[in-house]
Amino acid sequence: MAKRVAIVGAGVSGLASIKCCLEEGLEPTCFERSDDLGGLWRFTEHVEEGRASLYRSVVSNSCKEMSCYSDFPFPEDYPNYVPNSQFLEYLKMYANRFNLLKHIQFKTKVCSVTKCPDFTVTGQWEVVTQHEGKQGSAIFDAVMVCTGFLTDPYLPLDSFPGINTFKGQYFHSRQYKYPNIFKDKRVLVIGMGNSGTDIAVEASHLAEKVFLSTTGGAWVISRVFDSGYPWDMVFTTRFQNMFRNSLPTPIVNWLLARKMNSWFHHANYGLVPEDRTQLREPVLNDELPGRIITGKVLIKPSIKEVKENSVVFNNTPKEEPIDIIVFATGYTFAFPFLDESVVKVENGQASLYKYIFPAHLPKPTLAVIGLIKPLGSIIPTGETQARWVVRVLKGINKLPPQSVMIEEVNARKENKPSGFGLCYCKALQADYITYIDELLTYINAKPNLFSMLLTDPRLGLTIFFGPSTPYQFRLTGPGKWEGARNAILTQWDRTFKVTKTRSVQESPSPFASLLKLLGLLALLMAIFLIFL
Ligand SMILES: Cc1cc2nc3c(=O)[nH]c(=O)nc-3n(C[C@H](O)[C@H](O)[C@H](O)COP(=O)(O)OP(=O)(O)OC[C@H]3O[C@@H](n4cnc5c(N)ncnc54)[C@H](O)[C@@H]3O)c2cc1C
Ligand SMILES: NC(=O)c1ccc[n+]([C@@H]2O[C@H](COP(=O)([O-])OP(=O)(O)OC[C@H]3O[C@@H](n4cnc5c(N)ncnc54)[C@H](OP(=O)(O)O)[C@@H]3O)[C@@H](O)[C@H]2O)c1
Repeated sequence: MAKRVAIVGAGVSGLASIKCCLEEGLEPTCFERSDDLGGLWRFTEHVEEGRASLYRSVVSNSCKEMSCYSDFPFPEDYPNYVPNSQFLEYLKMYANRFNLLKHIQFKTKVCSVTKCPDFTVTGQWEVVTQHEGKQGSAIFDAVMVCTGFLTDPYLPLDSFPGINTFKGQYFHSRQYKYPNIFKDKRVLVIGMGNSGTDIAVEASHLAEKVFLSTTGGAWVISRVFDSGYPWDMVFTTRFQNMFRNSLPTPIVNWLLARKMNSWFHHANYGLVPEDRTQLREPVLNDELPGRIITGKVLIKPSIKEVKENSVVFNNTPKEEPIDIIVFATGYTFAFPFLDESVVKVENGQASLYKYIFPAHLPKPTLAVIGLIKPLGSIIPTGETQARWVVRVLKGINKLPPQSVMIEEVNARKENKPSGFGLCYCKALQADYITYIDELLTYINAKPNLFSMLLTDPRLGLTIFFGPSTPYQFRLTGPGKWEGARNAILTQWDRTFKVTKTRSVQESPSPFASLLKLLGLLALLMAIFLIFL
């Protein structure tokens, strides 16, 4: 049985891993290369090597009720979408509440993790670290890798002919911190992911002109979704997921397009995604259409050529003068402290069973946490992964034979669409609810909706039709949280506590009452006719 566990990184995933180890009686030692916890969520004025970097204005794009650890709701006075400084504060509260700090060694970089000579028998690893210039090494029974995947910038300069002749300034979005650099400049942002869109919108308040260049287009949605509800509390429900997954993909894509176009018609704004067969992460931005309709942001196609002081876009002959180019072209990832024979990264994928365990290792004593792109929050996803992993490390849960795991990994690499539901076919993508449910099943913590509908129908219906908040992952099984039921039944109270800061009386509409009465009469009539 594994006992001593090395955890690499003290971000969202590392903190959850420490807590899960403690809950199962394992001995975690977490190594964090920087001088504090929080990983990506800790904003610093300067970019730090080896750690993800944020711009000052980042606000979460998954809401607080959907993004919390499953037994630790955000404070109720936090806004629904949380600014990075408050997100970090929340992570610190979590670390304090569960006494995690004493298990973290800060300013300690993990340099290498190698199999011990007797690995096939013991499954042990030698972990070499560096702390203030001094090397150390220790043997661990298991390793949990929690280093994130948004640190190494992807900067495809070769795809931009003439970039070497450009006399202005250019940099990757990882370097971006504040918008004042854009004052009165002509700015080009390349890449319409969440970073590029945030930066273009922010620049447009100060710059002379802003172009946002996109090759693929994207669906843009607002955090403020149907009737003002947080988007993910409406979109991510078990009912909706079941509905989507039972329909053929073309129909789901058509329904999705209708929904996405309900805020504004994407084609009229030059945004509509080109490839709609595969799901592309939606862009969450509350301002973009407003900036486009007021001429502050101009959407452009891909770049044909960069010149000394201008760029030429594909399909548009006019040369546009440009002072600053921001490459918001995303990230690559790697595990520099691991040998390729342990985890190999190819085409943006690693050969990991259930996105976690290297499939070919004879002992399942190394796990990667948080290397996944669910259409939902990474925080509860990583936490659920960690809950399963510690039980595998303890030997309570067993992995299937290697051949089965390798087959599963290879099948995922082939990216074959199932033909139903949304197509999560790009590297690392996964269906949030389906994936988490699968892991919960392994640890007997998946909520049993059928029995719940009989024993506690209010809770059962809230779980089925309401948002899939993480508290439902703690109703049963190991790590069961007594506060889970109440947290689920009060999730909307916490959501509106921070928006309804002035109490208002809603006057009942006589028309609505009449409709309800007619509906009831129709129902009674139907019942009468059925039994006649
Ligand atoms: C701008 C932005 C906004 C986002 N918003 C959301 C959101 O709203 N909701 C959501 O769910 N997700 C969001 N994400 C995704 C985000 O990645 C996750 O929320 C989360 O931060 C991932 O945590 P992590 O612990 O896996 O990785 P990280 O937060 O990147 O932490 C990794 C840690 O490992 C440490 N480390 C790395 N290498 C070593 C080493 N060799 N030795 C020791 N320590 C090491 C790093 O210093 C770092 O502290 C956002 C991402 C970005 C870029
Ligand atoms: N507020 C928030 O919560 C927030 C903010 C920022 C980021 N994030 C998260 O952080 C993660 C990373 O986001 P990101 O926007 O940095 O990266 P990203 O989602 O990977 O987007 C990068 C974009 O760059 C473009 N691109 C890639 N290769 C290119 C090439 N060779 N030439 C031209 N363009 C290219 C593509 O856009 P085109 O097809 O448009 O060209 C691509 O969508 C995401 O999960 C995101 O949700 C969240």
